[in-house]
Amino acid sequence: MGLNWQQPLPKIYSELSDAELRVRIQMAKDTLGKKLVILGHHYQQDAVIDFADFTGDSFELSRKAAAEKGIEYVVFCGVHFMAESADILTDEKVRVILPDLGAGCSMADMANLDQTIECWEQLQQTCGDQLIVPITYMNSSAAIKSFVGEHGGAVCTSSNCRNVLEWALKGGATTPKPGQKVKILFFPDQHLGRNTAHAMGYPLDKMVVWDPRQDLGGNNERDLQDADFVLWKGHCSVHQLFRPEHVDQVRKAHPNMKVIVHPECQFDVVQKADLAGSTAYIVQQVEKAPPGTEWAIGTEVHLINRLARQHPEQKIIVLSDCQCLCTTMYRIDLPHLCWSLENLVEGKVMNEIKVDSNTRKWATVALERMLAIKGTGNPIAKQQPVGTTVD
Ligand code: 13P
Ligand code: SF4
Repeated sequence: MGLNWQQPLPKIYSELSDAELRVRIQMAKDTLGKKLVILGHHYQQDAVIDFADFTGDSFELSRKAAAEKGIEYVVFCGVHFMAESADILTDEKVRVILPDLGAGCSMADMANLDQTIECWEQLQQTCGDQLIVPITYMNSSAAIKSFVGEHGGAVCTSSNCRNVLEWALKGGATTPKPGQKVKILFFPDQHLGRNTAHAMGYPLDKMVVWDPRQDLGGNNERDLQDADFVLWKGHCSVHQLFRPEHVDQVRKAHPNMKVIVHPECQFDVVQKADLAGSTAYIVQQVEKAPPGTEWAIGTEVHLINRLARQHPEQKIIVLSDCQCLCTTMYRIDLPHLCWSLENLVEGKVMNEIKVDSNTRKWATVALERMLAIKGTGNPIAKQQPVGTTVD
């Protein structure tokens, strides 16, 4: 989507203190009552999370949105692709609001529909005898989700990527012809794709990277035909800040520390880590660990700082001293939340995220296929044989 233009808020919202904003947000929330659900991603600031009716990773938030009945508004405290998915999964009448339109995701912007169609055509020409199943990470536009749905694939999140890939490798929504090779085209995060495929037992030489700026994605025909996974050349600018040497430094300075990272981190980091999984998986691991456990965590800093505050009985540090901040998630703050809620109280829907009906049709299919596939929240870093479904 690119960063959208967010209109400046009326001056009053920058003049109010946090305490005043909190009171006004609570009043608006109380007034809207059961009409409203506020969803908050784990990377949101504490001040925003305080007002979330439900906090979770992208998979849990999409499931929550799909399950909501009888509401009128979802205020999504997260980024644009999450609000789009909430719009797709909720009833047509439900209005989904993103408090700051500038809250995009640079990774999602790394794959657009034109590039996707071009890639698809080139792959069909090069590997026409194979069944190509497109899978997109949730961190993608509704247009890419729709493309994937229309071509027999599904969405995945970092919670369920392995299980979605197991499904896709059997042909996804299409039954392969006898003996037909199945190939996965994975958008847009090469790291999640590579880390998960490797954890399933696929060697790195069975994966190629597709650079949308180059003919055949920068590959030769032979390599494309041989590959089991074609990984789109996308990444998260926050998680790429974690480097393998950070794991080495932590191991040296804190020999008892466990390293847990998000699978958007590069392959070498995930390989050196003890555990890898979605934001919800990271939260679960910390919550169930005994007092005295030491953690170095490789993900967005707001989640890590929150876990450190909630678990003083454990020692929790950020895997590196880089500022691993998702600046777009950070755009959702108390003034924007207050502004969007107070407008709703007055019957004005600001910053509505609406997916057009054409895109919605197949994007719904792609998301519903994902929701129907069992299994979430498991580590991907450790080798498990191909064919083992994680539940
Ligand atoms: P989760 O699916 O783990 O919530 O991650 C979403 C995300 O954007 C991580 O950068
Ligand atoms: Fe996108 Fe990375 Fe921010 Fe997640 S952390 S929303 S992938 S930019």
